[in-house]
Amino acid sequence: RTRVAVLVSGRGSNLHALMAACAAPDYPAEIALVLSNNPDAPGLDAARDAGIPAQAIDHRPHGRDRAAHERQIDGALREAGIACVCLAGYMRLLTPLLTGTWTGRMLNIHPSLLPAFPGLHTHERALATGVKLHGCTVHLVTERVDDGPILGQAAVCVHPDDTPDSLAARVLEQEHRLYPLALRRHLEGARAEPLHEGVLLAV
Ligand code: GAR
Repeated sequence: RTRVAVLVSGRGSNLHALMAACAAPDYPAEIALVLSNNPDAPGLDAARDAGIPAQAIDHRPHGRDRAAHERQIDGALREAGIACVCLAGYMRLLTPLLTGTWTGRMLNIHPSLLPAFPGLHTHERALATGVKLHGCTVHLVTERVDDGPILGQAAVCVHPDDTPDSLAARVLEQEHRLYPLALRRHLEGARAEPLHEGVLLAV
């Protein structure tokens, strides 16, 4: 099984979804390390409770030296023999130090149907724009933020009475379905089942 590290900054619900998927005996990955830039991230405790090594690597002592922080992260990933990294609500911008080292081996989940709405406040912006379909994307990480080859997407209909919170909650449900499927597909390639087949039509 591929040794995967999950990087989180906050709530950690996508980490939970990945941990649940990895509990299945036929899943091709195991979570071998959880890292967070935020020592208070609830995901760190959840990982430890599940017997997964979890480490806070705080960015604050490094000030503006992003490279120094990333060197520390890269060192921890190597030490743990990690082969693939999943960013799951990891809210630090990455420099080429990490994106270059982990090209093709680092995935991210983003709460929009990329290339629409890169960056922050995606649900507010989706509502303000009036899109009828919204959703989430799992993609390979490149130097450019919220860019890179798309591995999978899941869409939801936008309801006329949606608020950013109600829309975010529906998208999050899909994130939890999508991330484990997209990771499996990435690791197994053609051997994995297709993610999903179907047509979603919203008027
Ligand atoms: C998720 O919605 C994820 O897509 C988003 O942060 C949330 C983290 O939730 N990521 C980004 O916005 C990355 N730019 P979680 O901590 O409960 O998984």
